[in-house]
Amino acid sequence: MPRSSDGHAFDKSYWDAHWQGDRSGAPEAIAGSPPNPHLVREIDDLRPGTALDAGCGAGAEALWLAARGWQVTGVDIAADALARAAERASATAVADRARWVSADLTMWVPSTTYDLVTTHYAHAAMPQLEFYDRVSSWVSPGGTLLIVGHLDHDQGHGDAGPSAAASVTAGGITARLDPAEWEVATAEELHRTAASHGGARTLHDVVVRAIRRH
Ligand SMILES: C[S@@+](CC[C@H](N)C(=O)[O-])C[C@H]1O[C@@H](n2cnc3c(N)ncnc32)[C@H](O)[C@@H]1O
Repeated sequence: MPRSSDGHAFDKSYWDAHWQGDRSGAPEAIAGSPPNPHLVREIDDLRPGTALDAGCGAGAEALWLAARGWQVTGVDIAADALARAAERASATAVADRARWVSADLTMWVPSTTYDLVTTHYAHAAMPQLEFYDRVSSWVSPGGTLLIVGHLDHDQGHGDAGPSAAASVTAGGITARLDPAEWEVATAEELHRTAASHGGARTLHDVVVRAIRRH
């Protein structure tokens, strides 16, 4: 099972503690954050439909999608994260286009599929690539999968991210997307600087966007 860099499993108690604010103030930083730039770049031109944000946290990405006309379901295991998302939504004009579901994505089974399934840095208590297999099965025919993850530290980029065990490579993800079923549009490993605790840090990201053929 993947573990955080300080040895915790990525289970509900880990994420509840994370969002309850006893982890270096990270929840406040995340709660006020802009949407993930990879989502903005990859999805901006897509015609809106239904979307699922798996591990939505405080809702920055889900609300960005809602503002662009998507009917979004944000799922998270941490009630405090969803409370922040709902509060943030209530200050917007698009709250009615966002639905918040408290569920464990390792067990939750949606009642429908989605035109877009997206996930950003979500680490569950299951192997990371199996988690991506699971969320990718919820994409409708013709729909889009967008995975934004942490790049595997073994790739030689130096500073440790949140967890080596939960990190991946673009090739690791695309190898599991059957070419008969998926057209891979983006498979990139990128580095960016993001605000962090009043300073800045370098993030090593993996971005995979794929379209389900049928
Ligand atoms: C690092 S945070 C990222 C949050 C948000 N996607 C973002 O990019 O800011 C990971 C999120 O995944 C959620 N999560 C982890 N395991 C989960 C699970 N099994 N089911 C649902 N959500 C989960 C956590 O509660 C947390 O909000």
